[in-house]
Amino acid sequence: MCGIVGYIGDKEVTEVLIEGLSRLEYRGYDSSGIAVYDQGEVHVRKYKGRLSILADHLKEETLTGVVGIGHTRWATHGEPSDRNAHPHTNVSGNIAVIHNGIIENYMKIKEWLIEEKGIEFKSETDSEIIAHLVDHYYEGDLLKAVYKAIDKMEGAYAIGVICKDEPDKIVAVRKDSPLIVGLGEGENFIASDIPALLKYTRKMYLIENDEVVLLTKEGVTIFNELGQKMDREVFHVTWDAEAAEKEGYEHFMKKEIHEQPKGISETLLRRLDNEDNIVLDGIKITKEDLENINKIYIVACGTAYHAGLVGRYAIEKFAKIPVEVDVASEFRYRDPFVDDKTLFIAISQSGETLDTLAALREAKRKGARILSVVNVVGSSVARESDDVFYTWAGPEIAVASTKAYTTQLVAMYLIALHMATTKGVMDQAKYKEVIAELKTMPDKVKSMLENLNEIQFLADAQFNNESVFFMGRGVDVHVAHEGSLKLKEISYINSFAIAAGELKHGTIALIEDGTLVIALATQDHLYDKMLSNIQEVRARGAYVVGVAKEGNKEIEKTADVVLYVPETMDELTPILSVIPLQLVAYYISVARGCDVDKPKNLAKSVTVE
Ligand code: F6R
Repeated sequence: MCGIVGYIGDKEVTEVLIEGLSRLEYRGYDSSGIAVYDQGEVHVRKYKGRLSILADHLKEETLTGVVGIGHTRWATHGEPSDRNAHPHTNVSGNIAVIHNGIIENYMKIKEWLIEEKGIEFKSETDSEIIAHLVDHYYEGDLLKAVYKAIDKMEGAYAIGVICKDEPDKIVAVRKDSPLIVGLGEGENFIASDIPALLKYTRKMYLIENDEVVLLTKEGVTIFNELGQKMDREVFHVTWDAEAAEKEGYEHFMKKEIHEQPKGISETLLRRLDNEDNIVLDGIKITKEDLENINKIYIVACGTAYHAGLVGRYAIEKFAKIPVEVDVASEFRYRDPFVDDKTLFIAISQSGETLDTLAALREAKRKGARILSVVNVVGSSVARESDDVFYTWAGPEIAVASTKAYTTQLVAMYLIALHMATTKGVMDQAKYKEVIAELKTMPDKVKSMLENLNEIQFLADAQFNNESVFFMGRGVDVHVAHEGSLKLKEISYINSFAIAAGELKHGTIALIEDGTLVIALATQDHLYDKMLSNIQEVRARGAYVVGVAKEGNKEIEKTADVVLYVPETMDELTPILSVIPLQLVAYYISVARGCDVDKPKNLAKSVTVE
């Protein structure tokens, strides 16, 4: 959460900072600010609200300079307000700091700074202590002062610091929060994420945990926590800046929903050779390794967790290995039984989600082999894993995840099939059948995206509902959970997902006249049971939208509306059945006038606990 950016060079710094922050607003958008060195002073401008408010102010309160740092905030400590916005400064305003993360021991440091040094804090944030600590240790060398300050800090942080007395420097630090450096000619940059810098450079350094970076116009030096210089290979970004643009779509979410055929196809076809064998370059798990594994955990958060539920289904079904799935924030604290016979699969779009990363580290510490399914190349989760499967979704900007989810599903199916064939528990005919069917998915999704009238009509008729239930059986339940999350996060409707068979054990009490129930009935062997569950809720007044496979017309007799997905094998329906749910959520959000891409209280990359 929070986006940081910094620049040192010859360009007008405010423009670079605003441009960079505009690409990072997905990380937080309740306030923003910049600090710029100009004519012997550090000048700060920061305002509550979206970045456009800061940009508007800067049109009147012009700031010029060639060195500066900027921040877009997702509040953790202290409400969104001008004074809690970053950058934060020391008492004299000589030193300015931007911070993404949480300083866990900030209260202790704050009390010490107040009692021992009589400092009056200007904000309620944890971040402000950094400026005062750096000031406390400053003796003419910013780098040294930052080292001493971080030695006192516990928690997660990516920080950028500038100082009036050393205007030719930016010092940045990374600990458990993302940080990259952009390399230019006579100019250098820092940022939380690659898109912030793509307008200026494609050459990056990926900064590792516990590293400190010194940037000047002329060069970048990376140090480890002991102060030793580190070598780093330049990382060349190959994807286009346009991939992070809306390209004519009203919202990133809509664009990303429509990019799913491409993402699915790339994720799949790049892993198949001419004979349709799965080739996973980043995964080196052998038959012997698999025989040695007696437990698989899939661990993730939110949408990625929902992909993990489908992943469990696929691995158990195809590879016949028992799997447990856990949300990362629970896994890391429940002292799970993990040893060197455990395979730990982390799923993460960003590869920077703190809970997932912490769970991964915990499993690694206990000896597990780590396989990750990640979208962002070079992200922390990927770097800390033994085996990596990169999804090819491309940059996902909308806070609500769509194309990352469907590509994660494809990844999990391929991993499951790979395990099944490596173990020798799936016959060739079945393997060929599943692969052939997977290859039809891009076109099937595409066909669903060509006909949106019914979903738009449904959204227009139903957007005023204040509670919605999603239900299903078998693998449909997992998709129901994802549909429900999508709806609640972008439309603020209280939605709830349940295994249809569980309804009558309590939740059915909530069904009343007009309650919207979205019932997934894509599983052939559970179809009749689902029809009975639909009847049960309709008998209590629910308005039922069924989701079924084309050709299964019986459901029309029980549901009010049916959204059809193309015929496919039961095992693979999640890739298709989630599409109408994403679209329903999208159009309901639009109809309710919500900010689709930047829903309230959320941020794209959750780098705090
Ligand atoms: C919801 C959503 C989140 C993320 C979750 C994990 O639409 O995007 O639930 O799935 O925060 O994020 P990653 O995948 O980056 O670890």
